[in-house]
Amino acid sequence: MRTLYTTVAITLITGSTFLNAATYKGQKIYIDLCKGCHGGGQELAASKKQRGWEKLMENKGGKLADIHLTSKKASASWEYFKDRSYTKEAKHIEDFLVEYASDSGNVPACN
Ligand code: HEC
Repeated sequence: MRTLYTTVAITLITGSTFLNAATYKGQKIYIDLCKGCHGGGQELAASKKQRGWEKLMENKGGKLADIHLTSKKASASWEYFKDRSYTKEAKHIEDFLVEYASDSGNVPACN
């Protein structure tokens, strides 16, 4: 029995650490590459519901890339959105946005 509890506990701990790591990665990407134009990431994330972010980020972030690549105002971001590193990182960005979506229940810290 003891081993079973230990296994369950370890699974839960590593599971949540993994989730946080993914969210953290996305947040770091956001701070490095998106914050300059969009400001606070948690506020941007809270502008849509989880479903909205999933739609925008499906197919390796295709829609989000389109929005930027068709906007002259976003031209400084074209290099990144056309790059392979974007399609690789799109999932992390999605994790971050979904984590703080308006219906996620994760209220960003007020600061
Ligand atoms: C050079 C500035 C710039 C950078 C860098 C940039 N964006 Fe944008 N972004 C824009 C502009 C401008 C628009 C509005 C496009 C339009 O509607 O014409 C936009 C639109 C968006 C939208 C659409 C909002 C909506 O309501 O549909 C999202 C989401 C978004 N950006 C997220 C990001 C993320 C995530 C990153 C980083 C990976 C990023 N942006 C990097 C300028 C930028």
